[in-house]
Amino acid sequence: MDLPPSAAPLRALPAECLPPAVLAAVQAWPAGEQTSAYFYDLSVAARNAAALRACLPTWAEICYAVKANGFPPVLDALLAGPARLAAGSAEPSGQPGRGHPGGVDGFEVSSVREAGLAQAAYDRAGAVGPRRLVASGPAKSVALLTALAQSDGAVVNVESVGELRRLDAVAARLGRRVDVAVRVNPARVDLAGSLQMGGRPSAFGIPEPEVPAVLELAAGLAHVDVIGFHVHAVSANLDAAAHLGYVRWCLDFAVRTASAAGVDLRLVDMGGGFGVPFEPDRRGEVPFDLARFGDGLAELRIPPGVRAIFEPGRLLVADCGWYAAQVIDVKRSYGTDFVVLRGGIHHFALPTSWEIVHNFAVVPRSGQVVAATATPEAALEPPGTELPEKDLSDNELPDTDGRPVTVVGELCTPEDTLARDVTVGPVRPGDAVVFPMAGAYGYEFALADFLSHPRPHRIVLDAGGDQVRTAG
Ligand SMILES: Cc1ncc(COP(=O)(O)O)c(C=O)c1O
Repeated sequence: MDLPPSAAPLRALPAECLPPAVLAAVQAWPAGEQTSAYFYDLSVAARNAAALRACLPTWAEICYAVKANGFPPVLDALLAGPARLAAGSAEPSGQPGRGHPGGVDGFEVSSVREAGLAQAAYDRAGAVGPRRLVASGPAKSVALLTALAQSDGAVVNVESVGELRRLDAVAARLGRRVDVAVRVNPARVDLAGSLQMGGRPSAFGIPEPEVPAVLELAAGLAHVDVIGFHVHAVSANLDAAAHLGYVRWCLDFAVRTASAAGVDLRLVDMGGGFGVPFEPDRRGEVPFDLARFGDGLAELRIPPGVRAIFEPGRLLVADCGWYAAQVIDVKRSYGTDFVVLRGGIHHFALPTSWEIVHNFAVVPRSGQVVAATATPEAALEPPGTELPEKDLSDNELPDTDGRPVTVVGELCTPEDTLARDVTVGPVRPGDAVVFPMAGAYGYEFALADFLSHPRPHRIVLDAGGDQVRTAG
C-alpha cells in the first residue's frame, strides 16, 4: 500500500460544489455522532443505470457488480430504475430483463452473501420468474456454487478447470444442469485502465490458448452446460473507442471459438470496467463517452439468440456516494499540517489502494467535538458524553488557511492517509471532510477491522434532500 500521491498545487473543492442535499445532510449531521458516514443519493445510481441502458442495443443486458456497493437501498434503486424509484413503486416487476424500465437486469456476484443480497433485492421488487445472476471470482465456495446451481437464471463464470469439475460435482449432487460461461483471460488486452485482470498472467479465467481444451473437457461433463464466454479484463477504462474494440474482440472470439468447438453460443458476458473520472482537475480526465460507445455498439451484429451482458460496477454507483468524516484534530508536525479524522482507510481505502488524488471538500460545522457515542455497528464503543467546550482554543490550532494539508485517519499506521498536500481554507475540529465519488468500492473495499473502530454509518438522502434516514 503506497500513500496517495502529492496533490500539490491542488486546492480542496469548495463546500458549495457538493449537491445541496449532501451539504445540508453533512451540516445537520448530529455533532454527537463522532464517527464517519457514507451518504447516498439513490436517484443518481438509478439515473446512471438508465443512462447506460439508453445507449445499449436490445441484445445487451446489465448485471450490476454487487461488489462495487452492496448496500440494499442501492441495489433496490438500480433494479427499480429512475421512474419507479421516483414513484416509490414496489409493484412487482414481472420478468427480470426488459421488465425493469431503465433499471438493471440482474446482478453479478462473487460470494454467498452477495448472492443473498441480490436475491433479497429481487424479493423486495417482487420479481417473478428466473432471476439473472452471473457469478465470477476465483475460489468460489461450494456454498456459492450450490446456491447458484439451485437458482434458475444463474450463470457461473468458471475460472479454472478445477472449478468446472467442482461445479459439475455440486450440480450432480443436486440433480441439476448449470449454465456456464467460460471466463477467458485474453492473450492480449488493448485497454487502458487499472486493476488489469487479463492480457497477462493472472488468477482470473482460463488463458485464451487453453480454452478449446476446457470446452472439450466440459462437453464430457453431464451437469454443466457451456452457453458462452465471460471476459472481464480491466477496470476504470475511460476510453469508449478502446472499449468498443474490446467488445468487438469478445464477440468475435466467442463466435469463432464456439463454432470451432461445436458450442451452442447463447451468452457473451463482457464484464465491467467502465471508468469514471476521479481526477478531472489534475489529470483532465473526462467521463466515459456513453453516446459514442452506444453508436458503435449499434453497428455490431451478433448472432440471433445470443445475449450479451455487461457487468458495470463503478460506472453506476461511484458518484452516488459521499464519504464524510469528522475532523478531530488539526496539528502541525515539523512544518506539515495534519487534519486528523474520525475515520480513515478502514472506512475508505480508495485513495490509498488506488494511489489516486481523491479531492475533498471541507464543510464547516458549528458542532463541538464530542466523545464517542454508540452506533449500531459500534457496540464496543461506550456511550459518550458531550464535552462542554472545544478542547482546543483558537490560538492553539495551526492556521491552515491557504496551506497544504495532509488528511489522515485514526489508525495507528502512517498508511492511514487519505490525501496529501491539498491546499485548504480554515479547518477546525468538528468540521467534516467530504469525499465525493465514494459510492463504488468505498464501504465494501475498506479493511474494516484494523484497530476495531466502529464502521461508518450508511445514510440515504431522501429525495427531497433535506432529511436523512440511516438505513444500515
Ligand atoms: C468479474 C467482474 N465483473 C465486474 C466487475 C466490475 O468492475 P467495474 O466496477 O470496474 O465496472 C468486477 C470488478 O472487479 C469484476 O471482477
